[in-house]
Amino acid sequence: MQQLISQIEEYKKEMAAAQAADAKEAEAFRIKYLGTKGVVKAIMGEMRNVAADQRKEAGQLLNEFKQYAEARFEELKAGVSGDAEQTAAIDLSLPGDPIPLGGRHPITLMRNRIVSIFQRLGFAVAEGPEIEDDWHNFGALNLPEHHPARDMQDTFYIQQNPDWVLRTHTSSVQIREMEKGKLPIRMLMPGRVYRNETVSARSHCFFHQVEGLYIDENVSFADLKQTLYFFVKEMYGKDVKVRFRPSYFPFTEPSAEMDVTCFICGGSGCNICKKTGWVEILGCGMVHPNVLQNCNIDPNKYTGFAFGMGIERPALLKYGINDIRLFSENDLRFLKQFTHAV
Ligand code: DAH
Repeated sequence: MQQLISQIEEYKKEMAAAQAADAKEAEAFRIKYLGTKGVVKAIMGEMRNVAADQRKEAGQLLNEFKQYAEARFEELKAGVSGDAEQTAAIDLSLPGDPIPLGGRHPITLMRNRIVSIFQRLGFAVAEGPEIEDDWHNFGALNLPEHHPARDMQDTFYIQQNPDWVLRTHTSSVQIREMEKGKLPIRMLMPGRVYRNETVSARSHCFFHQVEGLYIDENVSFADLKQTLYFFVKEMYGKDVKVRFRPSYFPFTEPSAEMDVTCFICGGSGCNICKKTGWVEILGCGMVHPNVLQNCNIDPNKYTGFAFGMGIERPALLKYGINDIRLFSENDLRFLKQFTHAV
């Protein structure tokens, strides 16, 4: 055993000192030490002479020896002539390899902006499924079967189950929150929605919305307006004017749509606002008593407001993007422009 150890030590020294000027010399090293008639094989043969109780230790030693020989061969092959020189060859003062910096998607950036404004008013965030049943997407929102307002949104149905749809709006998450039976509710519900529309530069078959819902005792339309005023000031600046237009949504009564003065032309009229000076940004209203009842909330005790807005349009306008399809094409040339955006 002792003899084996000193033999190995000798060969290790020899290998450490070995040099290879080219691939041929490196190959000569391999043949000498790792070849079929090489040193490593020969020493392995010595195992026969090792006492049985020392075999395990000797085996380990030999394994290490073999690994060392292989490592030295790799070094010589790579043109590195020894540990000391290898260290010297690394210039520690060189800058490291750059780590590619990821960026957030512009839709995520816009969603986060919207969410953070409402979070400051105490709204929490909730999410719901993108595949919905008819009840949550329509029925509970006061859109019973055959209700004409179902045609306001072209729906994708799921073939395997006629009761399932790809949600057409995030209003479905309102229902899921109300059903939980915990009041008051002050929630913001961002997410992706789907509509069966022709894809073009201006519209897509899927897009994103943020829904808001506030249910408590004595919530009034004045609360809705004040909340949205705050949002608009934070989002578009304090000089932006707001107007509400009466509208219709089955799930709110009264309902309104909210416009802000065009933040591109400042209200004087341009292509974006179609020369009107106003841009529509959301739909809103007081939650319809039928909707509260559908979720087992007593409409005589509780009232609430809701609103829903798209994310794509404000993102298009803020970042000066002219084609909505760019958002979903995963073109790095497009996405990389947002690496440092907020
Ligand atoms: N769900 C409506 C849509 O997709 C948007 C909406 C309007 C949501 C009024 C609301 C609301 O919560 O009160 O067009």
